[in-house]
Amino acid sequence: MSQVTESAVRSALSRVEDPEIGKPITELGMVKSIAVNGSDVAVEIYLTIAACPMKTTLTTNTQSAVEDLEGIGTVTVTTDVMSDEQRRELRTSLRGDAAQPEIPFARPDSTTRVYAVASGKGGVGKSSMTVNLATAMAASGLRVGILDADIYGHSIPDMLGNTDNPHQVDDMIMPPMAHGVKIISIAHFVEGNAPVVWRGPMLHRAIQQFLADVFWGDLDVLFMDLPPGTGDVAISVAQLVPSAELLIVTTPQSAAATVAERAGTITQQTRQRVAGVIENMSAMIMPDGSTMEIFGSGGGEVVAERLSVLTGGEVPLLGQVPLDPKLREHGDEGTPIVLSEPDSPTAQAIKVITDKLVVRRSSLAGKPLGLGVTRH
Ligand SMILES: Nc1ncnc2c1ncn2[C@@H]1O[C@H](COP(=O)(O)OP(=O)(O)OP(=O)(O)O)[C@@H](O)[C@H]1O
Ligand SMILES: [Mg+2]
Repeated sequence: MSQVTESAVRSALSRVEDPEIGKPITELGMVKSIAVNGSDVAVEIYLTIAACPMKTTLTTNTQSAVEDLEGIGTVTVTTDVMSDEQRRELRTSLRGDAAQPEIPFARPDSTTRVYAVASGKGGVGKSSMTVNLATAMAASGLRVGILDADIYGHSIPDMLGNTDNPHQVDDMIMPPMAHGVKIISIAHFVEGNAPVVWRGPMLHRAIQQFLADVFWGDLDVLFMDLPPGTGDVAISVAQLVPSAELLIVTTPQSAAATVAERAGTITQQTRQRVAGVIENMSAMIMPDGSTMEIFGSGGGEVVAERLSVLTGGEVPLLGQVPLDPKLREHGDEGTPIVLSEPDSPTAQAIKVITDKLVVRRSSLAGKPLGLGVTRH
């Protein structure tokens, strides 16, 4: 029978990742001690904070990694909590010791694709599209985050059934996860449903903190769910992450289309790229298979064409998502329809859009982005 050694245990532990940071615990200074006694092993790991929401996942993963060793006896995993000094070291090892945290997505070498989901009118389904696109992408194995940039009307945590709060490691904010997506929202920082009454400069500061102080790790895609209209937040996003591309959501209605177009033309001032248009609340599919155009038809096509002319590049209509009471119900329950009813026509319509938006990370840096859209 092979002998259990400390180095074998350590190499088993190097396969255990901190779920929030996405790096092996051995590289994060999170292994406090390893004691080998014959075939029995006791491991003590450090949690970043006592109330670490990942405690159970971390201990279970550690336990099973060590139990996989050949000839292993009893495995005991216990936890301790990092000191302030250790947390500071961890923070420094993750993001350097710059006094002012920078926005990782604004770096020229960032390979994260950032989509700002915008509309002229309220209530057209920006947040619904954001949670469904994001969770569908996460389910396909991508690393995805959502920044709820709707400070007054935040709805992302509810739509994802998120009840966990972020926690702090030194001055980094670790975002909670919901359905495999990292999320941050002002909802995490206000009591209950307290209304938020902030003015422009504070809104800007909040978005900046969400971008720079939150530890997003390596993301493939970051969605920013914007409030309706072309206000301060849209301008802040453009300033803070100039490479953010706009996804314009509209309904098929011609009035909504005109307003959506206005939201898109803001990019003429900000010089952002419009990745495409999503027509939401399109023809409803009736139980007998026929369709009913409750909000009219053609809005998405009109916006895409008008924006193509205005921006001088091709702005595609990425897809049409039917009006579907199930989409709303799943939104209210915190279980996005793409996950709970993946085969429904509505979920399929959303997946068509994700397929068009997903571009492999390695192919991203410094290259045209594959949607046939030219930068302007
Ligand atoms: N395709 C759809 N079918 C049925 N209901 C929908 C659809 N899309 C969105 N809804 C519902 O419409 C309402 C508004 O959607 P949502 O909150 O996503 O819009 P929004 O554009 O983010 O709104 P706001 O401008 O207030 O942020 C929600 O109740 C949502 O569940
Ligand atoms: Mg919204």
